Amino acid sequence: MCGIVGFNGKSNCIDVIIKGLESLEYRGYDSAGIAYIKDEKVTIKKSEGRISNLKDKLIEGETSNLGIGHTRWATHGCANETNAHPHRVGRVTLVHNGIIENYAELKENELANYDFKSETDTEVVAALIDKLLDEKDILDILKDLNKYLIGNYALGILIEGDNNLYAIRKNSPLIIGVSNVGNFIASDVPAILEFTNKYYLLDNDEYAVLTNDSVVIYKNGKVQKKELKTFAFDATVAMKNGYDHYMLKEIYEQPELVNKLTSIYLSNEKEFMNRFKGLEKYDSIDIVACGSAYHAGMVGSYLLDEYANINIRVDIASEYRYTKHHYSKKHLIMVISQSGETADTLAVIRDAKAKGIDTMAIVNVEGSSIAREAAKVYYTYAGPEIAVATTKGYTTQVIVLSYMAMYLGIKNHKCKFDKNKYNKMSIVLKDILDNTEDVKEVAKQIYKENKVFYIGRKIDYALCLEASLKLKEVSYLNSVAYAAGELKHGTISLIDEGTPVISIITDDDIRLKTLSNTKEVCARGAHSIIITNDNITDKKIINDIIVVDKVDKLLQALPIIIKCQLIGYYVALNNGCDIDKPKNLAKSVTVE
Ligand code: G6P
Repeated sequence: MCGIVGFNGKSNCIDVIIKGLESLEYRGYDSAGIAYIKDEKVTIKKSEGRISNLKDKLIEGETSNLGIGHTRWATHGCANETNAHPHRVGRVTLVHNGIIENYAELKENELANYDFKSETDTEVVAALIDKLLDEKDILDILKDLNKYLIGNYALGILIEGDNNLYAIRKNSPLIIGVSNVGNFIASDVPAILEFTNKYYLLDNDEYAVLTNDSVVIYKNGKVQKKELKTFAFDATVAMKNGYDHYMLKEIYEQPELVNKLTSIYLSNEKEFMNRFKGLEKYDSIDIVACGSAYHAGMVGSYLLDEYANINIRVDIASEYRYTKHHYSKKHLIMVISQSGETADTLAVIRDAKAKGIDTMAIVNVEGSSIAREAAKVYYTYAGPEIAVATTKGYTTQVIVLSYMAMYLGIKNHKCKFDKNKYNKMSIVLKDILDNTEDVKEVAKQIYKENKVFYIGRKIDYALCLEASLKLKEVSYLNSVAYAAGELKHGTISLIDEGTPVISIITDDDIRLKTLSNTKEVCARGAHSIIITNDNITDKKIINDIIVVDKVDKLLQALPIIIKCQLIGYYVALNNGCDIDKPKNLAKSVTVE
């Protein structure tokens, strides 16, 4: 949450920072700001709302070579200009991503003499560094910063009268980019991709000094030798490439990603079996995640139930952390995260390690905190996902989970290695994306409604949860996912004449049961929309129907969810919503 960019170099930092912030807006977009040094003087410009508002405030023709910028998702204090970053206290100007838990104590005690203007925890850090500068130099302060601050922070710091850019990280992500025009700090690599794809990953408690032609990284006062990494994608991955929205672009990337994952994970049976070797030794797996990753985990749990002889449990990370667990001797905690930075999910990995439980992660972002801290990692290789609502992030998680189910199925003689069905899936998905009349029609039917229900059972219920989240987060249409059999225990009272109820029906085992539930809502006047892989002929229960190919159980979730992603997208489009940046949200949730 919150995006940071900083630059020290030979080009105009204002352009570099604004471009960087625009590509980090997915991390938060309620206010933004920039600070730069010119003629030894610090200038700060801030605005409420989007980067476009900030751009209106910039002085035309102004240039500088050293600066920092920030796009905010408010935690401490509302989203106004005063609370926007950068914050300046005395000689220190800084931007911050994270939360300082002891800010109130610091404010009342050590920093009681300072006059604070904002409600933020960040301004307290600026005051702390300003106070410490009376006693020691900035490098000594950064070395010991974790002794003063409790919480998470990635900081970009400017000091008046100093031509360096300083950065430090504890738990919140921060990378250092290097190029021959200058050096960068950023919350994520896409922010600097237009300028360079070479970067260092900062580890916890590491701090860096960036001049316009050098980067030195320290920990505990010692210079660190770091691996210079190369980001595998070019700048076009962070562009819309002709699509109206990132969400649509990312939806359309999915068929190609199925192929990419197939070539990486399923190149041949021997390698495939080696990759997942050992998974069968567990008798219990807890799958833990947040948001859509939790929904992917739920789909995965049904697949694993089908093919593995293992107790599978799925939970939301923010709940799991605070619940008592009884671990078996062969217990695995598997987390799922697109960003690899979600605070609650990361905490689950850390708690598990502290208890000596085996950990595994399914992650998209390479080098992210979760990827680095889990004992074993399976990457989803989806590339940068910019739209706040995840699409390709989710499907690639489901695909990796399907590989695990196939692996255990082979071990248990319940299925065979089959690469072909994955190759075919890419064609099935492409066909769906080439023929979108059905989803557009459903979107037209429902976009003016004020409530929509998704109902299904078992894996179809897991799909309903994601379908419903996709719809509500981008279109603000109040949508509820309900286990179809549970509806009659109260919620059916909300079904009125014409209320849209979307039934997802793919699972042969409970198909007839869900159909009965569909009949029940139809009897109460619902507008029934069915998404299915089956030949449902009872016209009385169908107002609209979307039919997908019947495919192998391991992959059936994919065509269904792509239809549902498109429904969410087109409902939001019909309602004129800000599809890539829905209100109040942020993509990378680094607060608990
Ligand atoms: C946010 C995003 C969701 C995502 C969730 C978990 O809420 O908007 O799309 O599913 O965080 O994120 P993760 O990066 O851990 O998958």
